[in-house]
Amino acid sequence: MCGIAGYIGKQQAAPIILDGLAKLEYRGYDSAGVAVFDGEKIHMEKAMGRLRVLDEMTHHGASMPGFCGVGHTRWATHGCPSDTNAHPHMNEENTIAVVHNGIIENYGKLKQRLEKKGYHFASETDTEVLAHMLTEYYHGDPVDAIEKVMHRVEGSYALGIMFLDHPHHIYAARKDSPLIVGVSDDGKFIASDVPAILHYTRNVYYMENEEIACLSNEHTRFFNIDGESIEKQPVTIDWDIHAAEKGGYEHFMLKEIHEQPKAVRDTISPRISNNDIDLGELGLSEEEIRNLKHISIVACGSAYHTGVTGKYVLESLARIPTETDLASEFRYRNPIYTPDSLVIIVSQSGETADSLAALRDAKKHKSKVLAIVNVVGSSIAREADSVLYTWAGPEISVATTKAYSCQLAVFYMLAMKFARIRGTISPEQFAKLLDALKLLPDQIETLLSQKEKIQFFANHYLATEHIFFMGRGIDYAISLEGSLKLKEISYIHSEAYAAGELKHGTISLMEEGTLVVAIATQDILYPKTVSNIVEVKTRGAFVMALTTLKHKDMENCADYVLYVPETENPFMGSLAIIPLQLFSYYVSLGRGLDVDKPRNLAKSVTVE
Ligand code: F6R
Repeated sequence: MCGIAGYIGKQQAAPIILDGLAKLEYRGYDSAGVAVFDGEKIHMEKAMGRLRVLDEMTHHGASMPGFCGVGHTRWATHGCPSDTNAHPHMNEENTIAVVHNGIIENYGKLKQRLEKKGYHFASETDTEVLAHMLTEYYHGDPVDAIEKVMHRVEGSYALGIMFLDHPHHIYAARKDSPLIVGVSDDGKFIASDVPAILHYTRNVYYMENEEIACLSNEHTRFFNIDGESIEKQPVTIDWDIHAAEKGGYEHFMLKEIHEQPKAVRDTISPRISNNDIDLGELGLSEEEIRNLKHISIVACGSAYHTGVTGKYVLESLARIPTETDLASEFRYRNPIYTPDSLVIIVSQSGETADSLAALRDAKKHKSKVLAIVNVVGSSIAREADSVLYTWAGPEISVATTKAYSCQLAVFYMLAMKFARIRGTISPEQFAKLLDALKLLPDQIETLLSQKEKIQFFANHYLATEHIFFMGRGIDYAISLEGSLKLKEISYIHSEAYAAGELKHGTISLMEEGTLVVAIATQDILYPKTVSNIVEVKTRGAFVMALTTLKHKDMENCADYVLYVPETENPFMGSLAIIPLQLFSYYVSLGRGLDVDKPRNLAKSVTVE
């Protein structure tokens, strides 16, 4: 959601900035722009649409000379996507240029005040107030002006700023939107995320809330919101550079689907030793685990769906009452925090605004917060009391696949660990689960090798308008994710239902040929789901069922059956989701859509 890239150094800035923005395309955007100091003035180019438009306009930056600049990909919030609303935004004198990720919540009031003072606005954006306010407070010292603006704006922001008076400097500031500073022998960088600068440097400073950075060829300086100088330590990023590239696959999504065996293995293996699960990072003593009375899992989108599975698994294995909430609901519903409770925040990016706000609310109420996060050093990872990382590596496709699978794996380990310590499962059950857990990566691999069968089926449903997913228990949690995956990348309307709920309303939508995807992997719920399949088939539905090989009788009731290997019931979701991810991918591909960057969506949702 909006991407920022900036550079000051020995190379021409614009091509480096455009490269950086290209690496941030996965975040979602609708327009792009770059501003560079060309030796005399701040030269700005902006274009609505894909980055390639800006790239062609500027001959990949070659027609924008200069060694210092900032760039931006915009995901519209205030004002429609257009050339004018694209960032950077400049003041009227063209002496200050700003790029912004986030939302200035009090921009209406600020704009009114500025207009009264005679400032003219060119765009409909909230960001433009920043350019005018910087003009108002600038008296020669950029840090002083930025600090004054930060004291007056409400909301979230990551900012990249240039002042014509200080032509060989980039300024940056952040609050509640991610921003990093990279340093190399060749120059300094600002970016919303690591992939934007990975080609140039691995030495990175994570900017904290309400910090300001000033970068020049000579210095990398940081200040707090009161303008006091602060010391920060760089960290070394150890990501494999190829992990952020397509590596021969047509799309990042397909690549990431195929990376799941490795990602799940990397998440599980380091945590298994001596036939036990070692979650040293958990930061909870055995006594605290035994005393746990309640767990709240809080997340958004697919991460929320892993939390729905997490609830089933934690309750069934560890017998801890667990609720799973959408972060956007949780943060405003004044939740009840009880002693001996644990809040688990789940997030791939670690920057999702609602999840971060839920985390802060929980901490404010002195609740213990555990984060399950993929991006090392992200805001959620840094602010939680403890973190269990999913070792999925960089996930670029907007639709999550490998991070989702790793989140599930972390929930399994957590539930097993809690269950063993609380004595709610026997050592024999634990050993059986552990064996099954270790087998999951190979089983995912086996499922991936059957992708042609799924592509064949998907190709028959490219023109479908509605698809229903149904299942019970963990199969319901998987239905939720299967349905989201399909709708977000194929734009086909789909809904997920707890199978028992269908006849309370939705069954009226069934008509001749309606496609229903039924998931039936849970042994004790199997006969119930079979009854629901019969009910929808009687109303004309075409049923594609997903089950395990021991339920061959499914062929007597469903129209098309896909089988997943056997595993322990709580882990079934990890296998059942693979054909559903592939189904969504092939439907999107067959419909000729932009699989990795679906319309209107952003990878990292850093605004509410
Ligand atoms: C769907 C998807 C989103 C994210 C959601 C939360 O494929 O990727 O629904 O799961 O936006 O994002 P994170 O996990 O970064 O907090």
